[in-house]
Parts: sequence; C-alpha cells; structure tokens
Amino acid sequence: MPVNKPTIAADALNGLDLLASAVLLMDASGCIAYSNPAAENLLESSSKILVGQTLADLFVNNEELELVLQQAREQQFADKRLDMTLERAGRDALQVHVAVTALDNPATPVLIELRENLQQLKLDREERLLDQSQANKELIRNLAHEIKNPLGGIRGAAQLLELEIPERHLKELREYTQVIIKEADRLQTLVDRLLAPHRHPHIVGDVNIHEVFERVRSLIVSEFPNGLKIRRDYDLSVPEFRGDKEQLIQAVLNIAHNAAQVLAERMKAGDAELIFRTRIARQITLAKVRYRLALDLHIIDNGPGISPDIRDRIFYPLVSGREGGSGLGLTLAQTFIQQHLGLIECESRPGCTDFRILIPLP
Ligand SMILES: Nc1ncnc2c1ncn2[C@@H]1O[C@H](COP(=O)(O)OP(=O)(O)OP(=O)(O)O)[C@@H](O)[C@H]1O
Ligand SMILES: [Mg+2]
Repeated sequence: MPVNKPTIAADALNGLDLLASAVLLMDASGCIAYSNPAAENLLESSSKILVGQTLADLFVNNEELELVLQQAREQQFADKRLDMTLERAGRDALQVHVAVTALDNPATPVLIELRENLQQLKLDREERLLDQSQANKELIRNLAHEIKNPLGGIRGAAQLLELEIPERHLKELREYTQVIIKEADRLQTLVDRLLAPHRHPHIVGDVNIHEVFERVRSLIVSEFPNGLKIRRDYDLSVPEFRGDKEQLIQAVLNIAHNAAQVLAERMKAGDAELIFRTRIARQITLAKVRYRLALDLHIIDNGPGISPDIRDRIFYPLVSGREGGSGLGLTLAQTFIQQHLGLIECESRPGCTDFRILIPLP
C-alpha cells in the first residue's frame, strides 16, 4: 500500500483497507491522497493510478461532488450524504450513495465514502429487461409470421409431390417427402408457441393463486412421479386478484417444469425438492411504478443452478441450456407475467435456484 503521505497514520489506513465500502482520502488541493482496496475495485483502477488524481479526472459530472468537497474543506458541515450517478468516460456510470466527511486533518481534510446503490442498480436492470423484452416480442412476432406463411406452402408442396411419385418409387422416395412434412410440422409447432401470447386474448377473472400452484403441482407430479418432493409454503391470507388464470398457470408451469427437468439427477438420489412459496410484498417498484402491495411468488429448486454462460440471457427467446430445449419457456412466462404488469426475477447458485414472480395487487 503506498503510504506516500507521512502525515496519514499508517494504522488508520490499515483499518480502512479492510472496509467493504470504497474510501477516498482527499488532500487539501482536492487530489486523492489515499484509496482503499474497495475503492480500487469500484473505480476499476489501482491505488497507484488513483493517488494524485482529482474528481474531475474520474468523473465527467464532477461539479456537484466538487462543490460538496469544497464545502467540507471549509468545514461548512461535519458530514453530508447524497445519492449520485457519477458518469465516467468510456465506462458505465456509477450509482452510488456518497458520504463526505470533513476531517480535522490539514493534510487530508476530506474523506469520501462511496457505496453502490443496489436498489438503483436493480431498477435500472429491470428497466433494461423490460425494454429488451419489448424489442424481443416484436422481433419474435414478425419473424414467426414470416416463417408461418411459406411453411404452409412447403408442407402442401411436399404432399402434392408425394402424390406424384410413381408407385414403383414410392417406398424409397416417400421417406424424403415425409422428412419435409415432419420438419414443417415441427417448425409449425414452434411458430405457434412463439405466437401464442399474442394470439390469445388476455382473459381476466378472479384468480386464487393457490389454485394456480395446485394445478401446476398436479401436472408436475403426474409427469415426475418419483423422487421429487414439492413443498408448499403458502400464505393463505393472500387475497384473490384479477388476472388470467390460464396464463398464470402456464407461466408457473414453465418455471416449475424447468426446475423438475434439471432435478433429474437428484430425483434418482431421491432428494429432489421444489418449493412453492406465496407471500405478500409491500412497497414494491415495478417498471418505475410504486405499488403498495404485490404478490410475491417463489419457485425454488435444489438443482445444480443455471449454468453461468446463459444466466444473463435465460429470458431471451431461443436461449436454452438443455438438449432438445427450444428456449421459449421462460420467454413466454415473462411475457405472461408482464401482461399482469409484473416481473420474473431469478437468483441462482448450485443447490438453490429461486425464480421470483412479482405481480402488483390493487
Ligand atoms: N431451475 C433451473 N435450474 C437450472 N437451469 C435452468 C432452470 N430454469 C431454466 N434453466 C435454464 O434456462 C434455460 C432456458 O429455459 P427455457 O424454459 O426458456 O427453455 P428450455 O427449457 O430450454 O426450452 P422450452 O421450455 O422452450 O422447452 C434452460 O434450458 C435451462 O438451461
Ligand atoms: Mg423450459
């Protein structure tokens, strides 16, 4: 650690080195005199480079922070806290809580503490997710329509061709026309799934979320009868709400179905577990709108976790980590939940994958 300012007590800096929040000590001329390892991490720069730099070197919009720094140097306050978005040249902006403390030390009169504002980051991420899924939806719909039209023609032509095959060649050549017809049918099913959420009207009625979970439970149990335990952790005070029951069943089923599929190994061992949890969440912000109450649903499995190479993209169409998977289950689930003004999030590590569905309640 470069303690190149003899006036800074070395043992005080040792303490700062251990802190999880980023700390910058500023000297009297407004340059960084010391940065702790957390600051190196946050600013993606080494202490060697940071020391001697000014805030203007680090942030494009440094004026507000510079002003507060000036006030701290003049001892106008003891400490001040702000939420800021610090823009950086060529890098992502930092969403941070900033605490500026005036110190009683002429060599380093100001301490700046930066902590990432996780709530803000989360909101930004959700907003990006929504934008993206809107773009996805349009792309899918257009693409599916483009595929659908010629597909009917291809299938029809193959059937006609089959009729034209002379009897003596029918046996060997029919194999080929059948391949065309079968593959066209497979594509047709795929396209129909892609278009499903746009085709069916959103039918709204009173929904009891536990009926939704129970339906999914019976479907999963009948498909995976052995070695899978489904634990229900229901909050029975969750009220009925207005929604499209069939869409909600499909969304929960797609998530639970994925979980059951990745639990295959554990089912053999007999300790595969799915948890269905229902709760009420308070003060939730979804797509920038604040709701007093929301349904807070979880589908949790003790499988291997989502593989890291697709983790950020699982809600995109055609992204699959599974042999034979079409990568549409989660895209559809997300679309259905968004039609209820809600959102699906996911946290995953080996042994615990938690899909969380949030749906605002009136
Ligand atoms: N609970 C989970 N644990 C581990 N991986 C998961 C889990 N849920 C989803 N995944 C991963 O996310 C991928 C995408 O899931 P999605 O349901 O969208 O498509 P799919 O299951 O591959 O195909 P489809 O559902 O269309 O038949 C899966 O292939 C799987 O790799
Ligand atoms: Mg799936």
